Amino acid sequence: MRPDPEELFFKDKVIVITGSTMGIGLRLANELSAIGAQIVLNGRNPERLDKAAAQVRNNGTPVLAVACDVSKPEDCRQLIASTMENFGRIDILINNAGVNMWGNVEDSDAQTLRRVMDINFFGALWTTQAAMPYLRKTKGTVLFISSVAAFHGLPQNAVYSASKRALASLAESLRIEQYDSGIHFGVAFIGLTETDKEKTVLDQNGGLIPRPEVTGGPRPQPIGAVTPLLRRMILLRQQQRVFSGIGLLHYWVNRIAPGIAHLVLLANFKKRNS
Ligand SMILES: NC(=O)c1ccc[n+]([C@@H]2O[C@H](COP(=O)([O-])OP(=O)(O)OC[C@H]3O[C@@H](n4cnc5c(N)ncnc54)[C@H](OP(=O)(O)O)[C@@H]3O)[C@@H](O)[C@H]2O)c1
Repeated sequence: MRPDPEELFFKDKVIVITGSTMGIGLRLANELSAIGAQIVLNGRNPERLDKAAAQVRNNGTPVLAVACDVSKPEDCRQLIASTMENFGRIDILINNAGVNMWGNVEDSDAQTLRRVMDINFFGALWTTQAAMPYLRKTKGTVLFISSVAAFHGLPQNAVYSASKRALASLAESLRIEQYDSGIHFGVAFIGLTETDKEKTVLDQNGGLIPRPEVTGGPRPQPIGAVTPLLRRMILLRQQQRVFSGIGLLHYWVNRIAPGIAHLVLLANFKKRNS
């Protein structure tokens, strides 16, 4: 029987996944450790982190759990330093930690708007910056988890959309700056995905609320439809990938006829608010 290329590739790789105590990050951590990768888990909530670590350790490969907040540069440096102390190398960094925010710009408080950018964009930037010297040695991968919200600013989701678009720009710049380093920078534009029931988003005053149901929009794709494609992006060193059919449609309409994308989103927004 021919060996599985993913098992060959991921076996013993040291993979840091930010925001991996639930949802897409935890699922990916489980799948990668099941094929032999050594995983560094991260999140802020220590109980959730312990629970996630116990679950991933059941796959039989080494797991390190580092509680830290990626919005703080010193925490990101600590995450990478702990990984190096423990494993001595980093092969792959997956910038997955993220938070969504619900509310229109005018009524949202400044701290909350800034918090979204601090976690989603700067969190990925600080962690990547800290990991780059080690990733250069392994000619590794940085994968940014973006969103189809990056293609067109969404109403009630302005800073979230902006933060996800900023990740794509960051990856473009890094691909040029780091061209000779051999580091692969990938961006995954993910569409609406089913996640844990515990998932929360920020409201306009910084409170945590359950993710609102959006009527008239696409149905969430199963989480199991997303993670195999993320693994594939890393294996094939793909620069970008749009997840979900509706995401691809959104991507092309925005490239070819951005005016139509605007009108469709506007009509949907007006219908929701009428
Ligand atoms: N689900 C979707 O529909 C969807 C669609 C497009 C893109 N995405 C993106 O995919 C990624 C994962 O989404 P998800 O739905 O799986 O998320 P989720 O279920 O809400 O989980 C978020 C994870 O990030 C951690 N986290 C949040 N803030 C953090 C911080 N400041 N520092 C460290 N860890 C932090 C959370 O743990 P703690 O709270 O304990 O820190 C948790 O482990 C996000 O970047 C999201 O924007 C998701």
